[in-house]
Amino acid sequence: MPSNLSEERKISYLEDLKTLLRIPSVSTDPAFKADILRGAQEVSKQMLSAGLQNVEIFETAGHPIVYGDYLVDPSLHTVLVYGHYDVQPADPLELWHSPPFEPTIRDGMIFARGATDDKGQFLCHLKAVDGLLKDEGTLPVNLKIMIEGEEEVGSPNIAPFLAEHKERLKADVLVISDTAMYAPGHPSLIYGLRGLTYHQIDLQGADGDLHSGYFGGAVPNPADELSKILAQLRDSHGKVLIPGFYDEAEDMTVSERQAYASLDFKNETLAQAVGVNRLNPEDGYNGLESRTARPTVEVNGLLSGYTGKGAKTVLPAHAMAKVSCRLVPHQDPVKISQLLEAYIHELCPDSMKCQVTHIQANPPWITDPNHPTLEAAAQAVRNFYGKEPVRVREGGSIPIMDDFQRVLGLPGVLLGLGLSDENLHAPNEHFRVENFYKGIELIKELYRALAQATEL
Ligand code: BES
Ligand code: ZN
Repeated sequence: MPSNLSEERKISYLEDLKTLLRIPSVSTDPAFKADILRGAQEVSKQMLSAGLQNVEIFETAGHPIVYGDYLVDPSLHTVLVYGHYDVQPADPLELWHSPPFEPTIRDGMIFARGATDDKGQFLCHLKAVDGLLKDEGTLPVNLKIMIEGEEEVGSPNIAPFLAEHKERLKADVLVISDTAMYAPGHPSLIYGLRGLTYHQIDLQGADGDLHSGYFGGAVPNPADELSKILAQLRDSHGKVLIPGFYDEAEDMTVSERQAYASLDFKNETLAQAVGVNRLNPEDGYNGLESRTARPTVEVNGLLSGYTGKGAKTVLPAHAMAKVSCRLVPHQDPVKISQLLEAYIHELCPDSMKCQVTHIQANPPWITDPNHPTLEAAAQAVRNFYGKEPVRVREGGSIPIMDDFQRVLGLPGVLLGLGLSDENLHAPNEHFRVENFYKGIELIKELYRALAQATEL
């Protein structure tokens, strides 16, 4: 495995990653607006120091987008790299072993919010540019890089930006490093992502909280009623019970299922890795298929009544749940959202006031697993890791994939450098330092392979 990163570069690159990680660029919480701006400024600074040109911070209706490019020659292929500098909230803070915005190295891993999702990963691209320009004085492709600040809130302002800057963003292929490898030392190429639709459900019972001794058994309890509703979202076979949910859901193809079956995946290993006795995949599908290529519905949050220490005999007046669906091609997030809303209202007893608020909708994405761009990326993986990358779908969402495909007509290469056990969106997020360094080298190899591809 070739790796020619000098010690000196390793040290300075890691310092730059730490600088990025110290900025709490949390996109969902308005309290972090100034930090988001500092995040964008730091990205633009690091783009400039890597040697990128035309570096600019673009304001949007939400958080800014940072863009930079290095255009070598119109006869070369043009690669558009996308990443995000925003991060998820760090809560619950008390579960972190070191503060989320004070990057700390332990056991060869760098711990901080955003380490693997996505600061450590997109930085590999900037550092690959830095290295290539320093060592070779040029790049093998024309490169355009855009790093946005709203991915974790569904990229609500990216579509107008793409439409407005169609020419500037024109490329042959889109490259993203914001997913995971299949296993340590074994990269994957992701050819599909699930879509998402996100809701809040509020049930209101009595006008205010009541003494559960006085009133329990006679007055309807929103915590009870919400639990009953949530229990009817999915059955014990892993099938979603929302009427019409599967109508447009495309099943995996026979060849996909064969490819999945040839992988060394075991339900037991995944169960053990996350600390449960066993998985509950959809009937007829294993855990990997269920979590990447099958649609589902999940409760993401639940709140009602007394949750402090000890006992408080209260009959709550209100109960709330956050519920999201992960979607596969060709489910329409808006339609699914309507189906969910209608189903909740149907299940809700007339003793409750029920409100369903739609928060977010992002379509799924899929491409041909044998697309020439994926072939080129596979060659890069072979060159660097001496291994065939695993071609699978992933279960998470990158909201802009669909826009890139529809607005810019771009094929996508998702070459992730993280691992799924790196606690993204959870306390103690981390990124393997070794994968940061190897990622930089792999990305150089990827640019070279894309440059050589005759067809993209
Ligand atoms: N890096 C993830 C995307 C991801 C996660 C892809 C896991 C594949 C597997 C990204 O930053 C993310 O978390 N996306 C959100 C999008 C949502 C907030 C619209 C997600 O999937 O929850
Ligand atoms: Zn994320």
